[in-house]
Amino acid sequence: MGPGRTAFIPCLNGGPALVLLLAAGCIDFYPEDTGGPSVHPQTTACQTEIWVPTGNLPGQPLPATPHQASLGAAPTPYSVHLGIPERDLSRSVSMVWNTDTATLSSLVEFGPADGFPDNAEQVEGASFLYGGGVVGEGPNRVHEVRLCERLTPGTTYSYRVGGQGAWSPIYSFTTPGAPGSFSSFRVAMAGDSRGAYATWASLLAAMDSHQPDLILFSGDMVELGVNQEEWDRWFEATGDILARRILVPAHGNHEFLAQHYFALWSLPEPEEYFAVDWGDALILALNDTVRDSNSISTTQAQFLERELAASAAPTRIALHHQPAYSTCTTHGSDLDLRLDWSPIFENNGVDFVLAGHNHIYERSVPIANGRQVEPGQGTVYLVSGGAGAPLYTNVEGEWFGAVASPQEHYIIADFGPDSIEFVVRGLSGEVIDRFSLPR
Ligand SMILES: [Fe+2]
Repeated sequence: MGPGRTAFIPCLNGGPALVLLLAAGCIDFYPEDTGGPSVHPQTTACQTEIWVPTGNLPGQPLPATPHQASLGAAPTPYSVHLGIPERDLSRSVSMVWNTDTATLSSLVEFGPADGFPDNAEQVEGASFLYGGGVVGEGPNRVHEVRLCERLTPGTTYSYRVGGQGAWSPIYSFTTPGAPGSFSSFRVAMAGDSRGAYATWASLLAAMDSHQPDLILFSGDMVELGVNQEEWDRWFEATGDILARRILVPAHGNHEFLAQHYFALWSLPEPEEYFAVDWGDALILALNDTVRDSNSISTTQAQFLERELAASAAPTRIALHHQPAYSTCTTHGSDLDLRLDWSPIFENNGVDFVLAGHNHIYERSVPIANGRQVEPGQGTVYLVSGGAGAPLYTNVEGEWFGAVASPQEHYIIADFGPDSIEFVVRGLSGEVIDRFSLPR
């Protein structure tokens, strides 16, 4: 464990101590070892069953409440967004939304966009209560429906969520082609929106204007992961964008392993870390705010090794929150992650790593074995922490730093057969950085 990441603070399962520590800016911690959010049965297959995650609360996950056709006083779905029930999103997707606590109707009606709702099907999901008590909020109800292997690759679907008497608006999304079947696509990237939801709204709208196929987010969505009001504001800022585009999140230290995070994000098991196959790319999302440092040096390191060895994907991307290489001195580089993960990235063809945590844009030189190498011969480390959180301007010259720019920004990456073309833009559309990586 290094000073850059975490210190163990016992007996933190929310409550006033957590709030005081947050107010004091003491934001790096391991929650008490309580077993984890995802100790329910794990499989790489898409599971239709929904479990109540524990997050940083004690206890074991329990089955969620199956759909019942009953509505509360405020059953209108809100914060509707797509989720990732398995690594192959060409045939499966999740829908997640909130309602009042009394509503138990958890239905999705979906079908081909052409002619919807003709030929639409209804699928039942489940819901559960989460949160409550930590900052005087909740409990809150979330609903989830998983369409497991019910979709056709490369097809546009329409859907609505809720149930009879409380349907959401109709949204549409398009499934990607089957994994490995295409090499041209567009990815938008950002991180660290916490506490600045107007900026987050503008930034995401700007990203959406480029019509990305996929969005990657490097963590710290909210200031305090146990505060539902912040999650409501974060999702409200997204409008309908995340109801029609997939966002792949990494867990940030401000998410605090909160039950809210695992309730609101539908992710492949074990949720803290997971793989997504998109076209001919392998995307590995990791968690660097953990209960036990063995999770980084052993469990997730083994996951990385296993996934990278098994994959034939020519392009490999890693996504986590706290950067292994950063010239920004506020948090600096996480030397533990550099020790535990960078050799795996660099020896297994990871093209680039997206992190955040330092509120700045940074790009490293290509790195292999701790040294600068020619483009295509190593891993490029990106820091994208400019989605609204207060900017950090203090930067020190380091051998690995290629670009550092403390401003709000997002990244658009166009993947093609031979290269990935990156353009980094500020909120006004000005270009901050432009570079390309060979594929
Ligand atoms: Fe952070």
